[in-house]
Amino acid sequence: MSYNLLKGKKGIIFGALNENSIAWKVAERAVEEGATITLSNTPVAVRMGTVSELSKKLHCEVIPADATNVEDLENVFKRSMEILGGQVDFVLHSIGMSPNVRKHRTYDDLDYTMLNTTLDISALSFHKMIQSAKKLNAIADGGSIVALSYVAAQRTFFGYNDMADAKALLESIARSFGYIYGREHNVRINTISQSPTMTTAGSGVKGMDRLFDFADRMSPLGNASAAECADYCIVMFSDLTRKVTMQNLFHDGGFSNVGMSLRAMTTYEKGLEEFMDKDGKIIYG
Ligand SMILES: NC(=O)c1ccc[n+]([C@@H]2O[C@H](COP(=O)([O-])OP(=O)(O)OC[C@H]3O[C@@H](n4cnc5c(N)ncnc54)[C@H](O)[C@@H]3O)[C@@H](O)[C@H]2O)c1
Repeated sequence: MSYNLLKGKKGIIFGALNENSIAWKVAERAVEEGATITLSNTPVAVRMGTVSELSKKLHCEVIPADATNVEDLENVFKRSMEILGGQVDFVLHSIGMSPNVRKHRTYDDLDYTMLNTTLDISALSFHKMIQSAKKLNAIADGGSIVALSYVAAQRTFFGYNDMADAKALLESIARSFGYIYGREHNVRINTISQSPTMTTAGSGVKGMDRLFDFADRMSPLGNASAAECADYCIVMFSDLTRKVTMQNLFHDGGFSNVGMSLRAMTTYEKGLEEFMDKDGKIIYG
């Protein structure tokens, strides 16, 4: 259902890889709400093909860019302004990748070259994106920039590894740049901290199935889906949130404020039985 929340607005969506991607759902919802958009992803992701299906469906162009490369990012903003006919009103940063996670390097055995790559792709790219946009005056006054984060920025989660540090940096960049861009151009910058979601990046997280299940049982409203995250992004791009900036906004069914739920505790108790000896003594945990 459309509320025309983005009628007449122009935007850029970074990070739609396939139909499971959060950015994919945001792109679909943005167009449904009346926006015209461009899409961007790495040259490799674009060549792999599925993003072009989305561009055909939404009648929008894909501009390849490695988000760690400032020239590429500048090109995305310049081309988008040409294609869309002026400054953009909203930008979504939906980008994350950790080579350490991919290569199963644990947090106490990180490869530092890989850590630099994690931070560059997953956090510094956000700074590069905003700085490029500001220098080119590519975002209209009152515009809105959103990046996607995860609660591991605040609290430790087994297996999230160096992505936790990247998310902490990402959220800090939203605050630091939000101050400057807000003061000078009324541009809002926020992060949305999303529930575990079954996507390509999400499945890379160690024990994702169990983490997903745990978060779902802990959250009074259950895990938020990618489609629901897209709804929240649309509200943040719309004029209904003009005074919200420099925030990390939890979109997680309540997970971040729950200590223990009955559902999670009941499952935990059941789980312990697996680790009892024949006399009922707990031998593990
Ligand atoms: N899936 C989850 O559980 C979850 C939870 C909270 C936050 N997030 C965040 O949501 C965002 C989107 O991830 P997703 O879950 O939709 O997965 P996804 O794999 O669909 O999206 C990740 C995207 O990052 C892109 N990317 C990687 N390296 C890049 C680079 N150098 N330049 C440009 N793009 C690059 C990929 O091509 C891909 O499109 C990420 O920031 C992720 O950390 C995901």
